[in-house]
Amino acid sequence: MIGAPNGVPLEEPRGGVHAPVLRNAAIESLAIRADGCYVDATFGRGGHAGEILGRLGEEGKLIAIDRDPDAAAAAAVLFEADPRARFIRARFSELGRHVEPHSADGILFDLGVSSPQLDEARRGFSFLRDGPLDMRMDPEVGATAADFLAQADEREIASVIARLGEERHARRIARALVAARASGPIETTGRLAGVVAAAVPGREPGRHPATRTFQALRIHVNDELGEIERALPQAVGALAPAGRLVVIGFHSLEDRIVKRFMRDAARPDPAWAGLPSMPAAARPRLRLVGRATFANEAEVARNPRARSAVMRVAERLGA
Ligand SMILES: C[S@@+](CC[C@H](N)C(=O)[O-])C[C@H]1O[C@@H](n2cnc3c(N)ncnc32)[C@H](O)[C@@H]1O
Repeated sequence: MIGAPNGVPLEEPRGGVHAPVLRNAAIESLAIRADGCYVDATFGRGGHAGEILGRLGEEGKLIAIDRDPDAAAAAAVLFEADPRARFIRARFSELGRHVEPHSADGILFDLGVSSPQLDEARRGFSFLRDGPLDMRMDPEVGATAADFLAQADEREIASVIARLGEERHARRIARALVAARASGPIETTGRLAGVVAAAVPGREPGRHPATRTFQALRIHVNDELGEIERALPQAVGALAPAGRLVVIGFHSLEDRIVKRFMRDAARPDPAWAGLPSMPAAARPRLRLVGRATFANEAEVARNPRARSAVMRVAERLGA
């Protein structure tokens, strides 16, 4: 069950439940004002969104974004008849089209996939459940993981698995996948997991041998890193002065982009360094708020997804 704005438990949303990671830390970091305007750029199942709504008064506003149709269905339940909340089914790299410049008092990104996306075999994200090899967060747009594996050459497959999965056996896995597709297309998560498991030498305790390959294909199919790179500058443009940007990432590739972006936006434009006056556009746009935050042991014990979570927070300067 998730919390409703008034604290009354709601019906479980369609398509499963997602336990929000770093919920309290993220909500505190947004420094919510009852009459403020907040954006949840990754609605999921509304765990964070429900908490935000619970802190808003009648004048407050919440804009929630997600590209997943099941998230849209969950939002219809959570937001039913709540005039303060609006759901937009979109990529968060389109945030600037949906949120007015300098209008948001806080924007949250809780990156990656939701538990229901992983848990539902039909979505094709998990090596633990056999299903069609899809992996698209928006199943109406773009190529599936199966399409990619059918069309890409061995070098491209190896490059994606090495770069986005940080998998040291990427070349060996790519070779095995290309050999396997000669006897029929790789169209299920079960077949992909089996081919990868057979190709990888040795076993890492506690980790399925296809973990990194699945992560790589998912990030590639959804252009997850490109989405973050395009969205962060738009989020800064949408923040009002003193508005908070809160980003939770789940692996080093995501976190590197977030960390560098915030660090660079918190510095003056180097082209003006040492000069006596500086135009407004060259001044820092963000102030870093605290250091990176990680989930504590108790949260990781309750919610294993929190193990790799890193939260970074910054505040909008000027306008
Ligand atoms: C980790 S879940 C968020 C969970 C949410 N905070 C909650 O408490 O229920 C990430 C969500 O972001 C969505 N998502 C990921 N990348 C996206 C993008 N580029 N544009 C829109 N939605 C995206 C996914 O579909 C997924 O529902």
